[in-house]
Amino acid sequence: MKGLILSGGKGTRMRPITHTAAKQLLPVANKPILFYAIEAIKAAGIYELGIIISPETGQDIKHIVGNGERWGMQITYLLQHEPLGLAHAVKTARDFLGDAPFVMYLGDNLIKDGVAPLVDRFKAGQADALILLKEVTNPSAFGVAQLNGNGRILCLEEKPAKPKSNLALVGVYLFNKNIHKAIDEIKPSKRGELEITDAIQQLIDTNFHVDSHVLHSWWLDTGKKDDMLEANRVVLDEMTDVSMDGGIDEHTRISGRVHIGKGTTLKHCSIRGPAVIGENCSLEYSYVGPFTSIGNGARVSHAEIEHSILREHCRIIDFHGRIEDSLIGVNVELTRSQLKPVAYRLMLGDDSKVEVV
Ligand code: TTP
Repeated sequence: MKGLILSGGKGTRMRPITHTAAKQLLPVANKPILFYAIEAIKAAGIYELGIIISPETGQDIKHIVGNGERWGMQITYLLQHEPLGLAHAVKTARDFLGDAPFVMYLGDNLIKDGVAPLVDRFKAGQADALILLKEVTNPSAFGVAQLNGNGRILCLEEKPAKPKSNLALVGVYLFNKNIHKAIDEIKPSKRGELEITDAIQQLIDTNFHVDSHVLHSWWLDTGKKDDMLEANRVVLDEMTDVSMDGGIDEHTRISGRVHIGKGTTLKHCSIRGPAVIGENCSLEYSYVGPFTSIGNGARVSHAEIEHSILREHCRIIDFHGRIEDSLIGVNVELTRSQLKPVAYRLMLGDDSKVEVV
């Protein structure tokens, strides 16, 4: 069994953050989303992993993920020249996959229970494909599956106006080699992509066995800012341990589950978890509220931050205001010269500079 993570794409819904960064590398609880996918695949006992990358962000992904050694895995990078669809990504990986069965995982998705139970079920069963589904309240926004009484998929529809069920396709699929022939037979959709839903429908139409598994725990697709914040909230909410490696002065109060990285100093701060603060940060006269992640090397003074993600090396200096529900890119500087009590909701790309006057 092999693994295939799709980490190409354009990430248009997350601009401007994705102008300079791969969305799969955005941090949730200070860890790149992509790492959660890699760890889920490893936990399923899979050691050969292919990662689809794009020309724009592929180098960054290679640099940050490496060759897989740290997970005891062997990672092969597969360049998809254009994001021509999920099925096109599988086509791009054809040589890497050979005739092996594989689990395909969208690199911007997070799934609480991982994929191990699914992989075991697929290995033990007779199905040609096993698709992960989740009940959603807005099925028209997704690929939707209609099942027979035994969980076998009868048909799939992409973003249907009148959905036949509320079961949406989650970003995890297991296939055997028959998917390749199905992909060879489909044509690009109206939006010009080779759709994986069309390929699966092709499997069904040619009498292959497509099974499903309905997920009951959380699944998050981090395509947009609010999804990222929700992912950060959910992952921090489940964090059970506490670690405090930094230097904390006697005027600082910490409550709840909090991680503070090495080399970080806190002076006159109030930190209320769940929250993570990375390494070598400096925080003074500030409040960090629940569901906040602050990346390595950040500096914060006279600010209140809650329910937000601040990436590495942000500087929020003498801010005298509150930042909430915000996603702030790498190396952003945020300062303020007038002291009016206001709150800000921000999505700032890397290297932004904002002066509130
Ligand atoms: P999407 O979120 O569907 O597409 P996208 O990343 O281009 O984002 P947007 O819609 O905001 O422009 O992709 C899901 C995952 O699959 C994501 O990790 C990117 C990856 N992907 C590929 O690797 N190749 C592709 O051709 C496509 C369409 C997506």
